[in-house]
Formats: sequence, C-alpha cells, structure tokens
Amino acid sequence: MSKKRVLIVGGTGYLGQHLLQGYAEINGSPYDLAFTHHSGPPPQALLDAIPGSLPFNVDLQTGDGFEAISSTFGQPDVVVNCAAISVPRACESDPAAAHAINVPSSLVKWLLGFKNSNTLLIHLSTDQVYEGEKSFYREEDIVVPVNVYGKTKVAAEQMISEKYSNFTILRSSIIYGPQTISPVPKSLPIQWIDGALAKGESLQFFHDEFRCPIYVKDLVSIILTLTNQWISEHKQMQLLLNAGGPDRVSRVQMAEAVGQFRGYDPSLIKSVSASSVDRGVRSPADISMDITRLVQTLKVHPVSFRDGVRLTLTTEAKP
Ligand SMILES: NC(=O)c1ccc[n+]([C@@H]2O[C@H](COP(=O)([O-])OP(=O)(O)OC[C@H]3O[C@@H](n4cnc5c(N)ncnc54)[C@H](OP(=O)(O)O)[C@@H]3O)[C@@H](O)[C@H]2O)c1
Repeated sequence: MSKKRVLIVGGTGYLGQHLLQGYAEINGSPYDLAFTHHSGPPPQALLDAIPGSLPFNVDLQTGDGFEAISSTFGQPDVVVNCAAISVPRACESDPAAAHAINVPSSLVKWLLGFKNSNTLLIHLSTDQVYEGEKSFYREEDIVVPVNVYGKTKVAAEQMISEKYSNFTILRSSIIYGPQTISPVPKSLPIQWIDGALAKGESLQFFHDEFRCPIYVKDLVSIILTLTNQWISEHKQMQLLLNAGGPDRVSRVQMAEAVGQFRGYDPSLIKSVSASSVDRGVRSPADISMDITRLVQTLKVHPVSFRDGVRLTLTTEAKP
C-alpha cells in the first residue's frame, strides 16, 4: 500500500519542526513528508534529521510554490498549516502582511483545486481570538480579538469554515518545550525566563495575565491523533478545538515554575500588573481556556505546566 502524504506548511517554524520530528518518529514510517519554507533555504540540520522529507519554497501571500507540490509530491492526505506571522507586535506593525499570511486564502484555493475534499486541513489558530475578560473560555464563546494578530486569526477561522469542508481548527495557547532541530530565531518562553533568572537579576512578571500553555509534544500528539483519525475513518470533520494545557497560569506562576525547577532565588521574581507596561500591542488579560472538548473528542491528556517545564528544562543545558 502506498504511504499517506502529509504536508507541513511552515515546517521551518517552531511547531512545524517538532511536527516533522513527530511524524518521522512513528514506527514503520507510514507517512511521506513534505514541508514548506519561506524566508531562506530549508535548514540543512532539518533535512539531515528528517531524511526523505521534501522541502518546497512557498509564499502564502502569493500562493507561489503550491503548484510545484502538486506535481512533485501530489495531493496531500493531510495538510497542517503552521505558517503565520506569529508575533503579535510584528502583526501590529504590518497589518496588511499579517492578514495576507495569517489568512491562508492561497492555501485553501490550492486545496479546492483538487476537486475533492480528500485532504484534511489542520489549521493553527490562537487563544488570542478571545477578549480576555473572563476565565476558561469555551469554543462557543464569542470571539473578540483585541489586537491585529487575533483579528487575522479570526478572519482565517471564518474563511476556512466557509470555504472548506474537511478541517480542524486548533486554538492554541502559548506553545512551549525544547528548542527545535534547527534553532528558531524567536525567543522561547521557558528558555527566556530561564536565561533571564540565571543572570541573577530581578525581573518583572505579570500577575494578572493568564494563559493555559501547552507542551509542544502534546500539541504534536493532538495533530497526530487527528491525522490518524482521518486516515483510518475517512470521515470528514469540521472541528474547532481549544488546544491548551490543563493549568491556568499567570506570567508570575510561569516564572516561579522555572525558578523552582532550577533552584533560583524566588525574590528575583517581581510581581507587577500588565497595565504598568506599554508593550506596543494590546494583550488580552485572561484567555485561559476550557479544554473539555479537546479531551473528550480526542482522548488526549496534556501534561501539567509543572511537568512540561521539567520536561523542557531537563533537555536544555543550564544557561
Ligand atoms: N508559538 C506559540 O506560542 C503559538 C501560540 C498560539 C498559536 N500559535 C500559532 O501556531 C502556529 C505555529 O506557530 P510557530 O510558533 O511554530 O510559528 P513560527 O515559529 O513563527 O513559524 C512561522 C512559520 O511561518 C512561515 N512563514 C512566514 N511567512 C510566510 C509566508 N509569507 N509564506 C509562507 N510561510 C511563511 C515561516 O517560514 P520561514 O521561517 O521559512 O520564513 C515559519 O515556518 C502559527 O499559526 C501561530 O500563530 C503559536
């Protein structure tokens, strides 16, 4: 039997690289893998680590590059869209580019060209679609994004659910975990806290901004479970799932978890209100999420934040 084809759009990013690794590590290698890169050539370390994976240069703003995938790789059975301008401040400074990339119209147009819905599209959205004025948002709650990043993600969700019939949208919280095979340029949340506290300088963290961070390997398991479900049952899906960890934590609590694991002086962590700092972009206060639907639908159990921090830092050298 021929192998099923999986395409990771944004395979060079943080989640994309972890996903490629996750698919490649499955026993018996049941998938042919392809991924897209954009701003530079595909990283050699990634190609070496995932032999046989096919890189394609694709620009989501124009759709250039998708046709080469059709002719060389063929119609994928599963596409995971991890490509985005994922830093809210960058979206704020160039809303037009943020919209053109984060709303994947060119990707959906390409998929519709196959004249069947035999491709499952798994699309990464964000917890920042929620306003942040209450705790434990559910999927059916109204979306009120407070910044450009959130607005582009809401527009993407609407476009996909209107135009495409076989999809899952994952509203992800902060994704944390080990560094990627080819290190990504952006700073990673746990490693950033670790590096800052290791210097012995006192640092301010918000006590009034809450998230449900998700350990990257749990998010990979969720996507592998969805892939397996589509391949084995071939039942189209229109799913919208909050994808977070089980714990609602403030930024202070995130820093404390890192500090406790490393044994740093707790007095280095200064608790302040988010309102005391101008970050150049509005950030929702409490976008903690209820993950009941995720757990019940996929039978997955993301690890606690404390365990995720331990798993992250045991694989990272102390700074
Ligand atoms: N990381 C988080 O904490 C977090 C939290 C919630 C939701 N999310 C969402 O989860 C997804 C994955 O996040 P991430 O942290 O893995 O993102 P990331 O590391 O910033 O990676 C972004 C990817 O998008 C690609 N890309 C950028 N512009 C492109 C363009 N014009 N055309 C094609 N590809 C382009 C990049 O390719 P090159 O690098 O090759 O240019 C890269 O592969 C995103 O949708 C993000 O919004 C992330």
